[in-house]
Amino acid sequence: MLLEVRGLNSHYGRIHALKSVDLSVGEGELVALVGANGAGKTTLLRTLSGVQPATGGTIRFEGVDITGMPAHRRVAEGILQVPEGRQLFGPQSVEDNLRLGAYRRGGDPDADLERMYALFPVLKDKRRQPAGTLSGGQQQMVAIARALMARPRLLLLDEPSMGLAPLLVGEIFNAVQSLKRRGTTIFLVEQNAYAALAIADRGYVLETGEITLHDAGSALLANERVKQAYLGL
Ligand SMILES: Nc1ncnc2c1ncn2[C@@H]1O[C@H](COP(=O)(O)OP(=O)(O)O)[C@@H](O)[C@H]1O
Ligand SMILES: [Mg+2]
Repeated sequence: MLLEVRGLNSHYGRIHALKSVDLSVGEGELVALVGANGAGKTTLLRTLSGVQPATGGTIRFEGVDITGMPAHRRVAEGILQVPEGRQLFGPQSVEDNLRLGAYRRGGDPDADLERMYALFPVLKDKRRQPAGTLSGGQQQMVAIARALMARPRLLLLDEPSMGLAPLLVGEIFNAVQSLKRRGTTIFLVEQNAYAALAIADRGYVLETGEITLHDAGSALLANERVKQAYLGL
């Protein structure tokens, strides 16, 4: 497994936000973790990317224990998080935001830029516009493309569908699916359980910091408990 998490805990003071979480992501897999608001999804991603300390358990990446590794070194290892709420440089152009994503990698990012514009054609039309003037869906595309410019080995997506109209949700998830087809390994956390599980190889359900279900994405979509709690069916 590319990512192997065992017994992971995280706290905010006395709040026990992650309770002995076990999960794994294999090379080339698209794994979704779904859960309600406040379940601990963002905390989990922040703990994986190293901006939030683990208070117990281990995180292994390619078999190496990275539990205590600082965040910037995890980025250098290829673990890239697209944060909740996008966090773009609003006054900078779309293209400058994308180029910043390749900054650490060095070299010539032009070929990668063209790949990003092929993935999200609308960004090519808007490449000279300040990122902050784009719609929410387009800003999400910039945020994902910026992370991809670093050529991640593991892409962590935090609720890419948040705040988007249904049509744009479909567009974002199509792009995520096409990234997976091109071989990118993706760990996606979402409140939008239907959209996430529909494209995932495997899925986990997180409830108040605990993994309560784990199965193939299609099996979770058909699971009665998931249907009732997350799909409104
Ligand atoms: N900075 C923080 N300080 C204290 N508690 C926090 C902080 N961030 C999140 N929490 C708490 O941790 C729990 C998990 O939050 P979070 O990981 O943001 O959930 P999700 O992303 O699934 O909505 C919630 O109970 C939340 O209130
Ligand atoms: Mg969150």
